[in-house]
Amino acid sequence: LDGRKPRVPADRTTASRCVVRVPAKINLFLAVRGARPDGYHELTTVLQTVSVHDRVTATLVGPSERSQHPASRHRMRLELAEPDDEALPSGDANLAVRAARVLGRLAGLAALEGGASEGERDPRTLLELTKGIPVAGGMAGGSADAAAALVALNELWGCGLPRERLRDLGEEVGSDVPFCVIGGTALATGRGTSLARVLCRGQFHWVVVFDHEPLETPDVYRAWDAHCEPSEVEPDAVLQALRAEDALALGAALHNDLEPAAVALRPALADRKQALLDKGALGAVLSGSGPTLLALASDAEHARRLADDVRDLSAREPVVVSSPAGGPELKATTSSGP
Ligand code: C5P
Repeated sequence: LDGRKPRVPADRTTASRCVVRVPAKINLFLAVRGARPDGYHELTTVLQTVSVHDRVTATLVGPSERSQHPASRHRMRLELAEPDDEALPSGDANLAVRAARVLGRLAGLAALEGGASEGERDPRTLLELTKGIPVAGGMAGGSADAAAALVALNELWGCGLPRERLRDLGEEVGSDVPFCVIGGTALATGRGTSLARVLCRGQFHWVVVFDHEPLETPDVYRAWDAHCEPSEVEPDAVLQALRAEDALALGAALHNDLEPAAVALRPALADRKQALLDKGALGAVLSGSGPTLLALASDAEHARRLADDVRDLSAREPVVVSSPAGGPELKATTSSGP
């Protein structure tokens, strides 16, 4: 951060509601190079967004005479609407709320307090999350919401920051947030936050197979510490397959070093992955830290057939998705201006 504060021109019309649709991410390749002194792990990973989406709605609620220039205010209340999924973290445990705080600090909101407003003295920003991405499924649902919150609040509060700036802010919120701000296809190193865009031709088609119970990312990394050694495997074959629009080659190259760790915690994942391959998937891989599994199909029709064939593998219906799926998109804004 360079400490610059966004400026809101006095006559600028600001939005009073913004809706952002944000895709989930998958890791086509994930190599763990080792544990770092800061508690994270050094990674080399290829990330891509897929067409499973969350929706984040940010609404400015408050006295109308104050609602024109939100970023020039000093006080703002922040409220997270009652989640539709009880597994969703509430308050500051929710990454969307943390993202709001990070942007709020930069936007010059001296106080961005949680909770409902008392007496309506301070304006409020209300965040509502509508989930399509599985919670704690290894598809960066929380990080996607944080990315969407950054995009929505940047608009709602009239900050006017470019996407690259929001991407850098995302690093303060979580390792997957910078990628979720940008979307598409990327190669990430370090904690997973140093990003380089990767060329991907065409679309790939997947069956996403959920698990009945979430896995917490820190638990999976702890299991990696206990059971695994740093690996030297490189992502070249995945990058080449993406460039060449070669699903067969991509299927063979899919790789995730967190898989043995997730299997140590959830042994049924090994059989489920094998069953996906037996049913004709071009490749199957754990998504991020799991427990969601991804099965690659040769095209959209194959993906539909495969989804039908693997219906019995888990309690929740598998879904067919395609990748890459772009980045967070501003779907609607309602304006209130001078
Ligand atoms: O960055 P984020 O808060 O999303 O990470 C959640 C947890 O996942 C970390 O606390 C850490 O246990 C683990 N992690 C890791 N190495 C990474 C990314 C995440 O060990 N590169």
